[in-house]
Parts: sequence; structure tokens; C-alpha cells
Amino acid sequence: MTLHRKHFILGGIAAACWAIAAPAFAQANTGKLKVGLMLPYTGTFAALGVAIENGFRLHVAEQGGKLGGREIEFVKVDDESDPAKATDNVNKLIKRDSVDVLVGTVHSGVAMAMAKAAKDSGTMLIVPNAGADAVTGPMCASHIFRSSFSNWQPGYAMGEVVAKKGHKKVVTITWKYAAGDESVKGFKEAFEKGGGQVVKDLSLPFPNVEFQALLTEIASLKPDAVYTFFAGGGAVKFVKDYAAAGLKKSIPLYGAGFLTDGTLEAQGADADGLLTTLHYGDSLDSAKDKAFRLNYVKAYKLQPDVYAVQGYDAAQMLAIGLNAVKGDITKKPEFAAAVEKARIDSPRGPFTLGKTHNPVQDIYLRQVSGKENKVIGVASKSLADPGRGCRM
Ligand code: PHB
Repeated sequence: MTLHRKHFILGGIAAACWAIAAPAFAQANTGKLKVGLMLPYTGTFAALGVAIENGFRLHVAEQGGKLGGREIEFVKVDDESDPAKATDNVNKLIKRDSVDVLVGTVHSGVAMAMAKAAKDSGTMLIVPNAGADAVTGPMCASHIFRSSFSNWQPGYAMGEVVAKKGHKKVVTITWKYAAGDESVKGFKEAFEKGGGQVVKDLSLPFPNVEFQALLTEIASLKPDAVYTFFAGGGAVKFVKDYAAAGLKKSIPLYGAGFLTDGTLEAQGADADGLLTTLHYGDSLDSAKDKAFRLNYVKAYKLQPDVYAVQGYDAAQMLAIGLNAVKGDITKKPEFAAAVEKARIDSPRGPFTLGKTHNPVQDIYLRQVSGKENKVIGVASKSLADPGRGCRM
């Protein structure tokens, strides 16, 4: 075959491909934007998934149903907080449904499978809760963003608080998986720097809630204090069991704020007085937070919590990126540049993303008072995750 003829054939093939691709390309900018929501709608984190979706939808509704000029279409998968099903679930959204962007999830183990699939396929991912340090660490990528926190952040902030209170010997208790391990690791890093010592790490498999034997062990170890990470239904039961075991009166309990967020109705008086650290609280009183809370209650007849805020902010981040590329989400570098330089006007207070795409944010010290996580101070100002292992 002559060179001339080869060029002619290749040129013809390219033109034919363009003819096929052109309508799809045009639609990619103006048609509906498919958002793949992968969240838990069953199990111990079910309420968290619902709050994230509610928050996300609230921002979309406030924008008239469109982000970056494009109508939003949701495709939903219940991930059941089950890492064993995570790769299949995320691939349904990427390959079967051809979503434009993934939003998920709550559970760190599931989120790591999502991050891997997002990396392999190049699909945009916004994580609206899961704190897995790796997502904005070794697995970081220019098209992966987090609207929530890293597990390290609230843990580290609480380590400083507990050390400053003068406690010397602490026992930790959590679920044995990435979120629990990393929350405890963050706590330990700051607490030991502050002169304290973690004398024992206790754990049970996720999502078990048979705490009795471990509570008996805490009673016999008699530490100065206990640090814990639990969330959702597990957090409700842990706080109730800790009080019922008589420990609340004798050994102060501290936690990452998920321990008492979205859970206070069910925990009742057993949560009263508990101190936790988190990037949100119920008494911030800023204009942005007041408007958010009012609109959320109006829309859902429910009080918002940290998960609702993270869902709302995931939609805000998507809107910022989409506005910058006029709805063309395939323009990834321009999308990323816009989100990277944004100051996100969150109900938690404004925040920016660090180099690894994790929020740089104030971590509040909160105390449970009645049905509220009252903000009583800032435990750590503009705390940035160290982003260990991220190369972008
Ligand atoms: C997590 O698995 O990363 C996780 C789950 C629930 C929370 C916080 C973190 O409330």
C-alpha cells in the first residue's frame, strides 16, 4: 500500500468516527448530566446515605435543578457499606450507566474501591463522607475530590484536646477497618506528642455492636479517658451501652464527632455532656448555616447533620467545576483548576481544598447539650490533612 493511499484510508476512518462521535459530543455538553450516587441505603450507615443525598439534592434544587447549565439526572446504587460488593457496584455506574460523575460514599473501604475504579476509568469522583486517608493520600488524583474530611483530621484534633486536659492514659475503642484505625492513629499522633499514652487499642469487626466484653475490659483497665470512633447505628448503641455499663460516670468518653452526629434523638440523655471534635456543629449561627438549616428542614422535615452538609458541599463543588467548563465535564484540568482555587461557602464555614483535594478546615470542639452538638470552641484552626503519599 502506498503511503498516500494509507493516509487516505485512515483519514476516511477518522472522518467516519468524527461523524459518529459528533452528536454524542454535542450532547455531552448540553444533555442531562448523569450523577452516579453510590451510598448506603441499608445497614448501620443508612441514615447517613440519606442525609448526603438530601443535602446534595437541596443544592441542586436551589440552583433550579441545573448545575453548569445542565439538568441533573441521578442514578442510584445502594452500596450496603459492603467493601466486598464495592467494585461490582461502582462498575455498574461507570460501565452500565455511563455516569458523568461519581458521588460516594460513606464507608472508607467502599470508597477506596471507588477511588480505584475512578482512577482506572478516569471518571470524576467526589467523596461526600468516607475519610479513608488513602483517597487523598496514595490514591489521590486530579479528578478525585473530597467534600468531607480525612479520618486523621477529627482524630488528630481530639488528641490535642485530650492531652491538654491533662489525661495521661487512654484506651481507644473502634471498628477494625480503615476509618476506625485511621481515626485512632490521628488521635494517637497528637495525644502522644502532647505527653499522653495510649495504653490499649480495643476493636471489633465492622459493623458489629456486641460491645459488652470490651466495656468490661475498659472497666478493669481503668484508664483516665476513652477515645472512640463509631458512627450511625453503631454510635447510637455504643453511647447507650457505655452509659448502661456505668462507665460514663467514671471514665470520660471522647470521640470523633460522628459519635453524636445525627444520633442524638436516639441516644437521649446518655449522650448528654459528651465532647467530640468535628468540622460541623449545631450552633454555628452564620448566615449561610442558618439559611441551609432552614431550607433543609423545609424540604425534608428533618434536622440536618454533618452528612447533609457534606452532601450539599459535594454539589457545590460539582457546580463550581461545571460552571467553569460551561457544563463540559470532559474538560478535567479546567474543572479541577476551578475547584482547587475556590473558597467553598459551606454551612460549616468557608473552606478551601488542599493540594491533595481534601478540605482544609476548622475542627470544632462540641459538647452535647440536649438535642444539640453545641460548638464550644475551635479545637484546631484550618487543619490540613498531611496527605502522606499523594503525588499529583
Ligand atoms: C468511614 O468509613 O470513613 C466513615 C464512616 C462513617 C462516618 C465517618 C467515616 O461517620
